[in-house]
Amino acid sequence: MELILCKNYDEISERGANIIARAMIDKPDCILGLATGSTPVGMYKRLIEMNRASWIDFSRTTTFNLDEYYPISPENSQSYRYFMNENLFNHVNIDKKNTYVPNGSAADAEAECKAYDAMIENSRGIDIQVLGIGINGHIGFNEPDENLITGTHLTALTESTIEANARFFDSKDEVPRHALTMGIGSIMRARKIILLASGKNKHDAVMKLLDGKLTTACPATMLKLHPDVILICDEAAYNG
Ligand code: F6R
Repeated sequence: MELILCKNYDEISERGANIIARAMIDKPDCILGLATGSTPVGMYKRLIEMNRASWIDFSRTTTFNLDEYYPISPENSQSYRYFMNENLFNHVNIDKKNTYVPNGSAADAEAECKAYDAMIENSRGIDIQVLGIGINGHIGFNEPDENLITGTHLTALTESTIEANARFFDSKDEVPRHALTMGIGSIMRARKIILLASGKNKHDAVMKLLDGKLTTACPATMLKLHPDVILICDEAAYNG
């Protein structure tokens, strides 16, 4: 795992955006795996600026998002589909029909997960996967557990994740208790992975990424088995 240590959040956003921009320039029809949450927002802003300056072109880009609350309507302003439209897709020249987010309003969650995996498999595969990291070490919504699941699946959110995400809702009670998430296998199949971590509260999780151990109690440690992972973190996350 390569480490890029940044001074602050702005530098993380810049470094992350530069890696994605490079990939988009080298491969105009590249496939991006994207994340929501607060961490990638600055990077998406930077990508929007680059697109406006005509440095990068999204017209041939395809995206697959990691996860979505379940159940939730895509029109709901708390949905990850809405988040992606607001924070990236509405502001760049991407064709929305090439942007995929698990459907949080699917009647049959299991069928939706199977269909999502099939879509990824039938694509040319994810070139770069963007990840944030949970305080508890989750990636996507692969929460700490005895077993981790390889494919896209319906999962229950842990209390720690519900508490961490309550900041986006009026109250903790409104946070959905379930989500659809790509599995660890889907994430590990990406050719390249960049993981962004910012802030003191990510310090413990970041330290577990940098020690020599793998544990399902910190799902992000599975990334140590991937040949091309870049951890982009700021001093607060690194030093605690
Ligand atoms: C979001 C996702 C989550 C977040 C993680 C960190 O699509 O998959 O794993 O990346 O919860 O969230 P923030 O960035 O809000 O701290």
